[in-house]
Parts: sequence; C-alpha cells; structure tokens
Amino acid sequence: MAVLPILITGEPVLHSRALPVTDFTEDLKNLVDDMFETMEAAPGVGLAGPQIGVALQLFVYNWVDDDNRLWRGAAINPELWLSSPVLGEADEDEDSEGCLSVPGERFPLLRAERVILRAVDLNQVPFEIVAEGWLARIFQHEFDHLNGVLYVDRLEQTWHKPAAKAIKSGGWGMPGKSWLPGVDDLDA
Ligand code: NI
Repeated sequence: MAVLPILITGEPVLHSRALPVTDFTEDLKNLVDDMFETMEAAPGVGLAGPQIGVALQLFVYNWVDDDNRLWRGAAINPELWLSSPVLGEADEDEDSEGCLSVPGERFPLLRAERVILRAVDLNQVPFEIVAEGWLARIFQHEFDHLNGVLYVDRLEQTWHKPAAKAIKSGGWGMPGKSWLPGVDDLDA
C-alpha cells in the first residue's frame, strides 16, 4: 500500500469525465487500497480516482455520522439520484465544504439534502445507499469529480471570486501541481 500524491486543480484529469471501470483485477483492488490509505493520510472523507490521476469512475469514502455509524466503502461505476435542489443561499457555517484538490480552502455550497447512490463494489456486487445530510454531500462531491467538476466550479457568485483568488494565490489552476499527504502540510 502507498500514499499517493493528490493532484491540485488545474490538472486536466480533474476537469475531464472519467471512464467506466471494466477490469476488476488485482490491480484495481490495490488501487482502491492505495486510495483508502491516501484519503486517511490527507485526511479526507472522500477521494475520487481523478484526484490521484486515475481517470476511472470510482471513489472511496470514510465518514462517521452523528449516530457514530461508520460509512466506508468504494463506489465503482456509480450512479447518483438527487432530491430537488435546495433554494436559498449557502450558509458559511452549515454548508462549507472542502476538497483535497483545492487543499486548505473551504467555501459554502448548497447541495441536495438526499441522494440515492447506486454502484458496484470491488467484487462487482451492486449496492445502494440512501443518504441524507453530510453523507449525501460527500456522495455529490465525489460523484462530481467523476464528471470533471470540482465544488469550486459550482459556487455562487458571492464565493466564486474568493475561491478563484485562493486558487491563484496558491499558484494553482495550471497543470503539474500536486501534494503528498504526510509530507506536504496542505491538509484540507
Ligand atoms: Ni474533492
């Protein structure tokens, strides 16, 4: 197992649609192991293939809810259904999210309150999770990554400018930037 470098916004793979996983091999299993290790080292609650330079439709997640229940797994070739959009303005305290590919920054974004995630696991066994609240947010965030969308791409007008500024002052927004959890102190 290995902690992998996490690519930073500007790298083309982060802004392109990922391809379906077709080969369920030992290599895929090793890749998912590395993704878990990288996510934990970051630390983060989710990590998608494109963030480590793998343009495949998969993400891992690891999150403990308010009832102390652990939600942890790998979602391969996922589909996501969203409840109706929430109207209003994103709240800085309630709705701020971050991304390991925009490390150290957080900006508020409204997300659907409920989602249904359908995917297969490493053994190609289909599973479905009905998620609410923060878990629903995690799934929306990671699913976006597979379509080449970062949360900063979705920000309201108010937050768009500060995000663009942060990306610029980080020296990001161009290819070739990455950070290594445990080595570079850029935790999101
Ligand atoms: Ni992210």
